[in-house]
Amino acid sequence: MSAPVAPLLEVRDVELRIGGLHILRGVTFDVRENEFFTVIGPNGAGKTSLLNVLSRIYHPTAGSVAFDGRSLLEVRRTGLADLGIARTFQNLALFEHMDVMDNVVLGRQRLMRSGVLTGAVWWGRARREEAEARQACEPLIDLLGLGDFLNRPIRDLPYGIKKRIELARALAVEPRLLLLDEPAAGMNDEETEELADWILTAKQELGVTVVMIEHDMGMVTRLGDRALVLDFGTVVTIESPRAAIADPRVISAYLGDETEEADDPTATGTIAVGIPLGQDRKAKHA
Ligand SMILES: Nc1ncnc2c1ncn2[C@@H]1O[C@H](COP(=O)(O)OP(=O)(O)OP(=O)(O)O)[C@@H](O)[C@H]1O
Ligand SMILES: [Mg+2]
Repeated sequence: MSAPVAPLLEVRDVELRIGGLHILRGVTFDVRENEFFTVIGPNGAGKTSLLNVLSRIYHPTAGSVAFDGRSLLEVRRTGLADLGIARTFQNLALFEHMDVMDNVVLGRQRLMRSGVLTGAVWWGRARREEAEARQACEPLIDLLGLGDFLNRPIRDLPYGIKKRIELARALAVEPRLLLLDEPAAGMNDEETEELADWILTAKQELGVTVVMIEHDMGMVTRLGDRALVLDFGTVVTIESPRAAIADPRVISAYLGDETEEADDPTATGTIAVGIPLGQDRKAKHA
């Protein structure tokens, strides 16, 4: 019998307090290599804070986080890319005045000794490295269907394309673990479906493990292997996305958050896929 494979990510009893707020409470879970792991829960549940812990923006008050058997809590934020961890943000974080290629190439900075923007001293080497980085990004640009937009400034592009560029930049890190915070926020149904296809393609082609926060339940049930449900910083359940959205504890977590929906007959029984809940939350980011 072969030994069980250790999880890629191990989160144990994580507590996070900021000021007087107790934001995460005893959060424990594992993510397996190559898994598509999703995190759902009402607004303010602590999802982004959890991702901030995983990406070393927040240091937990207690608990442990291990990546590939090594404590992440001893790694600086700037060392994450070297370990193979990349993330996207809930709000777009692109350089609007730069073009698509430049934004994607920035993701490779850790793979370039001289750095993209600091090459003045080592001009020759920097130019060579930058050319190599651009070349290395071309398959990724093709994979994500961004070839037509390459030399256009980001600010001129539709929102859906910008979100895809952000995904490309994170993948340019060549991560083993990709952390996505509401990739479909602010998108309509068609754009959401299209982005889900791109994420799936990237995951399959590049063999990356994904942790994705998302409010769009259609996307979560379609892509996710498992869903962790957070409410008030506590793990309510970890199960298949379909089981999670039908779980009475999860439904009451959502209804408790949106009391105005308590009288809505469509808001009982299950959290419908493509639900008003998702639309409301998306509108918030639009
Ligand atoms: N740096 C901070 N300072 C103070 N409070 C914070 C900080 N970061 C998070 N919080 C609080 O922690 C709670 C959880 O916030 P978080 O952004 O993690 O929620 P979320 O689940 O991502 O919500 P949403 O679905 O709206 O994005 C909120 O009450 C938020 O105001
Ligand atoms: Mg959030």
